[in-house]
Amino acid sequence: MKNRNLIEQSQTRIQGTLFPTDTVSEPPIDEPASDEVELVSFRELVPEIKDTGYLTHAIFAYPAKFIPQIVRYAITTYTKEGNWIVDPFAGSGTVGVEAYLCKRNALLLDLNLLLNHIMPLKVYRGKERLRETDLYKLLEGMKENKCQFIPTWSNVDYWYAPEILEVLSYYWGFVNSTDSVYATIIKSALLKASKRFSYTEDRTPKLARSKRKLKAIEELVKENWREQLDEMIHSLSLKTLRSLNDFVMYTQQHQDSSISEIRWQAGVDSSYATVPRVCDALITSPPYLQAQEYIRSTKMELFWLGHTEEETRELSRLEIPYRKADRVIQTETLDKIRDILTRDDLQKRLDSYFCHTINALENAMNQLKPNAAACIFVGNPRIDGITVELWRILAEYFTERGFVFEKVYEDRIQTRKLFGARKNKNPDGMKSEFLLILRKHAINQSSPRQCGPALEDKERPLHAPQKSPNNDAS
Ligand SMILES: C[S@@+](CC[C@H](N)C(=O)[O-])C[C@H]1O[C@@H](n2cnc3c(N)ncnc32)[C@H](O)[C@@H]1O
Repeated sequence: MKNRNLIEQSQTRIQGTLFPTDTVSEPPIDEPASDEVELVSFRELVPEIKDTGYLTHAIFAYPAKFIPQIVRYAITTYTKEGNWIVDPFAGSGTVGVEAYLCKRNALLLDLNLLLNHIMPLKVYRGKERLRETDLYKLLEGMKENKCQFIPTWSNVDYWYAPEILEVLSYYWGFVNSTDSVYATIIKSALLKASKRFSYTEDRTPKLARSKRKLKAIEELVKENWREQLDEMIHSLSLKTLRSLNDFVMYTQQHQDSSISEIRWQAGVDSSYATVPRVCDALITSPPYLQAQEYIRSTKMELFWLGHTEEETRELSRLEIPYRKADRVIQTETLDKIRDILTRDDLQKRLDSYFCHTINALENAMNQLKPNAAACIFVGNPRIDGITVELWRILAEYFTERGFVFEKVYEDRIQTRKLFGARKNKNPDGMKSEFLLILRKHAINQSSPRQCGPALEDKERPLHAPQKSPNNDAS
């Protein structure tokens, strides 16, 4: 019989002895969670970044993006110019943009294929400013286009009013068959417009057809919807073009843009991927324990960009933590949580989360040079009311496998709403996030779980996603 009292103390923090603390209740709001935690505000530590969406950061919306200040801080504190940084959960590529701006190189991996579409714009390598007149010409061409693109999405009709779907499919037909940076800019605008003009709720990350939105679209099609659609695509495209021009100007003024190399590979299951080169640092934010289903949240975008239902289904099965674990991670703090967690489904979720998150981190961390820093940004989620100190669990795991605990920063969440309104035992979502810094031992000791040969200095090609022993979603 598991201990109900502990479970009912929904504020309980589970503590390990590696980093002992005395408190059992949530800390007062202005105190750090414990002595080994340094309370900071990354926004204040990096005052040169005034706007989280500066330059190209805001071109694409993506769930649970890093704020660039955190990445900038980690880069400037723990790496040097010319270093290679690996991010095995690259998402929308924040680490890539910041690495480029700071003259570092980056290797970005993510399961979500969107990364392939995002990076060419966010790290735009053109040297000349883009011309607004060229963009306008292409936008006019798009409106005249007679060739349709219908996504391979069996119930696309369910998500659109027929007249809107028809126009969108002509617009997508044009951009999907035009190869130029201007067409890529228009695509980024069309992604947003195709969501806004569909029946899905604008604010929920997952596709959700609501009565409210249905009514709004029904009203819209009685009005000048085509003008409104064109206006939205036009103004978003222009905004993106101007962000790219700011990026071109900034990189011309601040650096020789040939210095940095930013590589990315999407569709990669980092839990089983071999990281193809030695790196000087890891900077990443793993998915949350109660994570968004990123593939499901972005599948409308993926379909319009030409990906198939089969592809997205296959990738969804590999998402952390919605798949089976193939090993049980044990650390003192994690084992204590297991002891008091009564629900089987949540036990499975917990096991899956730690198995695959740690697999992915370990694959990348095995490729770090001696003394390199691993900077891992995590929350303190709750599962069935129990706080899971992720940074502590990761620190316990990796300090037994060739890493030294260096420090952990706590940053209070200011504007980001991570999950929106919730009807569970964690109605407020997370209040703090933590940047854990681990340092690799000076003498290289790779962890025994090794996906490929460790520390090869010559580069190997990135493999396509390898099949896990069991890919089924649990
Ligand atoms: C918190 S997000 C990262 C966001 C990123 N830091 C940014 O600024 O955009 C976590 C990412 O983990 C990815 N992910 C989930 N399961 C994965 C897996 N098995 N292999 C690789 N990436 C995975 C998701 O697609 C998502 O992009």
